[in-house]
Amino acid sequence: MPNPLVVANWKMNGDRAFAGAFFSALDLSGVVADVAICPPFPYLMQVVESAGKMGSGKLSVGAQNVSAEEAGAFTGEVSADMLGDCGARYAIVGHSERRTLYGESSELVAKKFAAAKGAGLVPIICVGETLEEREAGRTLDVISAQLQAVVDHAGAESWRGVVVAYEPVWAIGTGKTATPEQAQEVHRFIRERLGEAGVETPLLYGGSVKGSNAAALFAQQDIDGALVGGASLDAKEFTGICRAAG
Ligand code: 13P
Repeated sequence: MPNPLVVANWKMNGDRAFAGAFFSALDLSGVVADVAICPPFPYLMQVVESAGKMGSGKLSVGAQNVSAEEAGAFTGEVSADMLGDCGARYAIVGHSERRTLYGESSELVAKKFAAAKGAGLVPIICVGETLEEREAGRTLDVISAQLQAVVDHAGAESWRGVVVAYEPVWAIGTGKTATPEQAQEVHRFIRERLGEAGVETPLLYGGSVKGSNAAALFAQQDIDGALVGGASLDAKEFTGICRAAG
């Protein structure tokens, strides 16, 4: 069984003062889950420093995106090596906002996944269907294709040492959470698709997770934690989610 993991994705929110206040209000005493904070790039080192000061071996830091390229003339990109150098442990790849708003294909996401792994980071790869795809009964096909792109690029062995997040697009930022049963069905499918590595891979659910619905989601057998957007901007609410995870 993977250790529970709760990840805060601040998206493009906050500033230096916010990051400082967040850590003053975060209380991880008694939390069993691993916890990671993914701030916007400019605040990464500040957050690494604040996390270090909390002195909890359970708390680490991640980036919200990473370049597929190693180095060179790629204006505006940030490499996996740079993230590691700044103290990041995780890198989110394939978030639906990157896929839909920035046109990232599953092939590019697979390259980012491999770049993160190659630099010693733990990729958090996001998969998920749109409402239209769910209503057409295509949820598992969509997830399957998103996962297959990684296997095609990096091989089935590459599932070791990674995190997979199921984020139904229709549940992100909408206040509509997948029911625990809907999420569990997809998580079980993902676990099976990952083969042997799936047994040890933390599978996170994301999409309108908050203090009040976290425990019911975490009670499902194949839900090992959460990737939290809006509710991660409130340190007290986020603390409640971390506590619910174990
Ligand atoms: P919300 O928790 O705001 O729905 O966002 C989920 C998400 O996209 C986390 O990556």
